[in-house]
Amino acid sequence: KKTVEDVELKGKKVLLRADLNVPMSDGEITNDNRIVQALPTIRYIIEQGGKVILFSHLGKVKTEEDKKDKTLQPVAERLTELLDTDVAFVPHTRGEALEQGISNLEDGGILMFENTRFEDIDGKKESGNDPELGKYWASLGDIFVNDAFGTAHRSHASNVGIGNNLETVSGYLMQKEIDFIGGAIDAPERPFVAILGGAKVSDKIGVIKNVLDKADRVIIGGGMAYTFFKAQGKEIGKSLLEEDKVDMARTLLEESGDKIVLPVDVVAAEDFAPDAKHRTVSVDEIPADMECLDIGEKTVERFKEVLEGAKTVVWNGPMGVFEMENFAKGTIGVCKAIAELDEATTIIGGGDSAAAAMDLGYADDFSHISTGGGASLEYLEGKELPGLSVIDDK
Ligand code: 3PG
Repeated sequence: KKTVEDVELKGKKVLLRADLNVPMSDGEITNDNRIVQALPTIRYIIEQGGKVILFSHLGKVKTEEDKKDKTLQPVAERLTELLDTDVAFVPHTRGEALEQGISNLEDGGILMFENTRFEDIDGKKESGNDPELGKYWASLGDIFVNDAFGTAHRSHASNVGIGNNLETVSGYLMQKEIDFIGGAIDAPERPFVAILGGAKVSDKIGVIKNVLDKADRVIIGGGMAYTFFKAQGKEIGKSLLEEDKVDMARTLLEESGDKIVLPVDVVAAEDFAPDAKHRTVSVDEIPADMECLDIGEKTVERFKEVLEGAKTVVWNGPMGVFEMENFAKGTIGVCKAIAELDEATTIIGGGDSAAAAMDLGYADDFSHISTGGGASLEYLEGKELPGLSVIDDK
């Protein structure tokens, strides 16, 4: 793919789509990782003397009312702090004020405009990729840099729509995500071990199948493991079960049973509650009246053995109910085990596991933590991502 380094930026109006869809609470940004990850591309364009026109979506906007707490203003303020340069914020997504702001930009200046999904209120123009909107935004710039990996699974006017009308290159973050996640899936250094967790098989079925095809071992933990245990005929008590996925789990075990690694012990609780009474049991002795909420210590040891010597590791999804301290040990143990691998390229496929690694202070010990949630899942599923396909080839 063509990157931002392949084009001349000096004096150009550079449209830069980032994914600045950060978590917020009462107007405060609670995790600015996506903003921090967007900085290298912004800095590069400035250094090259380009004029940065930056934009993103934030949350979902369905009504006028939604606009109040979905403004990108706090993101522009955080960017001003992080870059130590003024980011001019234009509270519109089109029109004279925006166009005037752009023509006032100097080389190396930055302007950011309002949440692209403000265009969704009458008729989903942004998230439905309205061709006129994509064309309009494209008309505001000379070149398009798509650095929004987190949005790459969406076909929006602000990524695909603009890309259809203008020369399109990737930014550094997009390229990094392609190199790490794409690299692991397409040409992994082996052994390649995937660790998949999370509550539901149905959310991860595409990933499980694709990864079973590419990886040497696939470790399965979290709530979805119990559907696999059910398929093996085990008692799972009141643990999470997707009845309609049992046959699928059985087929996967029959076809690739030697590749799949399941827990050997689990933490069984009397209730789904932070202070519920609990004890660790073998997976062959799950009490009928209890609910399993985490993997046990022996399982963490077993997973460590499987990880030993791996050259590529991809992790997606928690091993238990890690929001509750009593049931977080499995996820912490796995996170630590991967973080401690020296020889491997270690990748976290976004979402909850990325948040867990950051909260636990292991972020720097991974080769790559994806900024995508849905996008990294779909990438791991082997699906084509429209926001990636729209980038011009070299
Ligand atoms: C994400 O957070 O996964 C992306 O920013 C996409 O957001 P969406 O799920 O609201 O489309």
